[in-house]
Amino acid sequence: MRELVAEVRLGVKDLVAPLFVREGISSAQPILSLPGVVQHTLDSLRSEVVQLAELGVPAVILFGIPSVKDEVGSGAFDPAGIVQVALRELQKEVGNDMVLMSDLCVDEYTSHGHCGVLNKHGDVDNDATLDIYCRAALAQATAGAHVVAPSGMMDGQVGAIRSALDGAGFSDVAIMAYSAKYASGLYGPFRDAVDVQIQGGGNRKSYQQDWRNAREALREVHADIEQGADMVMVKPALSYLDVISAVRAQVDVPVAAYHVSGEYAMIKAASANGWIDHDTVALEQLTAVKRAGADIILTYFARWFAENNR
Ligand code: PBG
Repeated sequence: MRELVAEVRLGVKDLVAPLFVREGISSAQPILSLPGVVQHTLDSLRSEVVQLAELGVPAVILFGIPSVKDEVGSGAFDPAGIVQVALRELQKEVGNDMVLMSDLCVDEYTSHGHCGVLNKHGDVDNDATLDIYCRAALAQATAGAHVVAPSGMMDGQVGAIRSALDGAGFSDVAIMAYSAKYASGLYGPFRDAVDVQIQGGGNRKSYQQDWRNAREALREVHADIEQGADMVMVKPALSYLDVISAVRAQVDVPVAAYHVSGEYAMIKAASANGWIDHDTVALEQLTAVKRAGADIILTYFARWFAENNR
């Protein structure tokens, strides 16, 4: 009876698996603060994506770790950058059997760890960053991304990327916008995963959102849709269920939510101590994100869910 009357059903087709690929390593590297998640080599990435496709996971989102970082984050737009190389290989391997998404930002590629280029005062230069994002979008689309996902929270990023893509004949490449992305304390393990330290112990409060604000998140979402976003995202997920629900009520495009590294790590750590039950809490949390209104959930549990909950 509970099955019959359940209001929400979480399924593998709701999920996107975030994957890390690192340049210049010869075997996959574990990430201490993200148990079960690794920095992939190109080879291990390829086999992971093939297995995820076989398990029915519909999409992956790629993050790159370059062997060299610089001031402008060249690895993000270099055709030989690690994610572009990975996209070309995955296109050959799985083609249209898997939605290939690529995170579009420069923080993994910059020496200072910010999501944009800096001006002479050391502040992120919004408009100069847009040019770099456009170059990254074109590099990713050329390499075979089906969806680009700008995550840097620069104003005007969606519009700029959309016109760059359209101008180069990539009108069929979709944009999943990290629209309401909060300056959260829950990204810590991710920054380990991509070897990012923000220069001088800095933070992203000048471009990511203040967790005290929900109406502002809706403004960001509407702005992104006007600029051409095909899907919008709220991130993190659990602390922002009210925002997910408000976005769902106001827009018609697919709504994504990112169950982020810190959310995953908390479940792993507490369950490893025997304080909570891993499977129960993982399912409870992901289901709550769907119940709040997310159509798409980015989660490090994607593979676990696909293997255990069909
Ligand atoms: C920025 C980006 C971040 C995450 C996804 N894209 C980190 C940040 O804003 O510092 C975090 C994802 C997670 O914590 O799982 N490129």
